[in-house]
Amino acid sequence: MFTAADHGAPGATFHADLQAQLEALIGDERDVIANLANAAALIWHTTADVNWAGFYLRRGEDVLVLGPFQGKPACVRIDVGRGVCGTAVARDASVLVEDVHDFPGHIACDSASRSELVVPLRHQGRVVGVLDLDSPSVGRFTEADRAGFEALVRALERRTDLGSVS
Ligand code: SME
Repeated sequence: MFTAADHGAPGATFHADLQAQLEALIGDERDVIANLANAAALIWHTTADVNWAGFYLRRGEDVLVLGPFQGKPACVRIDVGRGVCGTAVARDASVLVEDVHDFPGHIACDSASRSELVVPLRHQGRVVGVLDLDSPSVGRFTEADRAGFEALVRALERRTDLGSVS
């Protein structure tokens, strides 16, 4: 159903392949829990050097709550504006952190995490959650990863009923 990572440098087609696999996996399903759960599992099993991959979903204006993910158990609630996830929501923009030790207010759910990429998930223009990727390696995520995972999230938004999230 999916192609596992080779644990080498990501190939030039990594992100296009990942998006094609996600779209094939989702098919006509539009359920938010099912699609986010399968997206987290697909990313987890295909993306090298990642120690957490998943979603936080917005509840009301001010808080994110843990959603479908792969990796160690994580912090359940994050205030909008706090940590990398909450900052991405407040800025309505992706946040790529080379070294979490240099990010004031980073929330260390797992002390092994050293770099992070957070991409907002939107419904009708409003941020309703985030995709959060953590790595144990400093500088794991590149601008190409930011663009690739932003495109992946756009595909997920198009194919999922996100109106029920908040
Ligand atoms: N590090 C995140 C918190 C979520 S965990 O990494 C899964 C942050 O600062 O937002």
